[in-house]
Amino acid sequence: MRGDEANALIQGVWSTIRDRIKQQGPTRTVLAAVAKELDGLASQVKPWLEQAYPPPGDGEKQVRYLLAQDDQQDYALYLNAMNPGKKSHPHDHESWVCIASVQGNERNYLYDRLDDGQQEGYADIRLRETIDVVPGWPVFLEAGEIHAIEVTGDEPVWQLHFYGMAVEKQSRRLAFDMAAKKCFLKGVGVATVTKAS
Ligand SMILES: [Fe+2]
Repeated sequence: MRGDEANALIQGVWSTIRDRIKQQGPTRTVLAAVAKELDGLASQVKPWLEQAYPPPGDGEKQVRYLLAQDDQQDYALYLNAMNPGKKSHPHDHESWVCIASVQGNERNYLYDRLDDGQQEGYADIRLRETIDVVPGWPVFLEAGEIHAIEVTGDEPVWQLHFYGMAVEKQSRRLAFDMAAKKCFLKGVGVATVTKAS
């Protein structure tokens, strides 16, 4: 696949799924359908993504590339690459997100929050579900849903992430310490790379 063909495919799917969510809203039904579409895109562009986007550098665990976003950063599509050993504490996002694997297994731990969120710094969360996000098995999270991730196995993970808010705009994300029943503001993590391709 040539770069211009891959880019056209990505931009076409990006416009379709963004417009669908704009028109129909980020309901669970719509997010599930969008995640499935993202999964289809991931399998189609896999060979090109591997050629065009370098994996994380030596000693690094993650690199995030911007593939598309609108002018207001209300919708954004990323390629996220992570090396084995990468994992996160439980955290939320201010936006819904659809995640599809291009390659590899990202284990997702999904949590319920049991308290009402009214006491600052306090949070009582409980593990609800574990999902292995692999090619053919995408996942979506609604806004505010809590997850933790872990790259299992020896293979790097490459994923497409589609958010209803660019990660740089997500200033009120929370991270959680389940054992201590605490929560605190979480930063954006690695800086997003914008790459001309
Ligand atoms: Fe996350």
